[in-house]
Amino acid sequence: MQTHTGIETIREALVAERVAGKSVGLVPTMGNLHPGHLALVETARRDNDLVVVSIFVNPLQFGPNEDFDGYPRTLEEDAEKLERAGTDVVFAPSLDRIYPKSMQAMTTVAVPGLTRILCGAHRPGHFDGVTTVVNKLFNIISPDRAYFGEKDYQQLIVIRTMVSDLDMTIEVVGVPTVRDTDGLALSSRNAYLDTNERAKAPGLYRTLSKMKAEIESGVRPGDARPYEEIASAASAELERLGFLPDYVKVRKRADLEIPDATCTELIALGAASLGRTRLIDNLSIDL
Ligand code: PAF
Repeated sequence: MQTHTGIETIREALVAERVAGKSVGLVPTMGNLHPGHLALVETARRDNDLVVVSIFVNPLQFGPNEDFDGYPRTLEEDAEKLERAGTDVVFAPSLDRIYPKSMQAMTTVAVPGLTRILCGAHRPGHFDGVTTVVNKLFNIISPDRAYFGEKDYQQLIVIRTMVSDLDMTIEVVGVPTVRDTDGLALSSRNAYLDTNERAKAPGLYRTLSKMKAEIESGVRPGDARPYEEIASAASAELERLGFLPDYVKVRKRADLEIPDATCTELIALGAASLGRTRLIDNLSIDL
């Protein structure tokens, strides 16, 4: 496994592989890897000749009061996991290599509309930071395919929209969420939960599961009022369980818009905090 920190060196290393006709899969990460990330690597390994994993904690996607400084940085352990998972190339650039100018002076990439709802409404600027850094990674690596977890479902749809709007020829692949045995979606931020919060945390998955069951067993497609009622009951349930909910919503799976009468492919999404830890999760609903 090769590790590169420089943009020119990784470009050079990949040129020869491309000339040899090899396909390249990119797994962008912020490190502190868990089995959810390794599922992305495994899927990329299956689909591509060469697997590149980037590790970069991107300051542009953290709000001023968020956890950029405290975000766990575990490069050595990550490299061992990636080597075992069959990664070919790790790209771990420094902050000033990715953002050589002040961040206020940088060109940014933004997907309007979609990034202002759900998580975007609670984390202003977050998705602009994600699309900007993912764009840069796409330009540096030029992958054929890029892999993102379905746990961050809005991020996945935002990146698909960016790729389509900007006519990029990269296939964006969503990989199913990996869960702990009690249903909690794996996330690097789960490490912030204390014992008491960790015991409560699967309540988000259980609440979304109840919504899914209720909607799949009774609500007709497009019966929007019951969706709203079910979502606000779920939000109240989260509060009762000790969460501070940001939102619970039922949306169209394709574009996260409000479902209309014909929509049969839905998704229940929720974001809620336990103490200082903000958790997100979602479940597909098929009518
Ligand atoms: O999902 C993440 O870990 C990050 O948002 C990503 C896609 C690596 C961009 O920094």
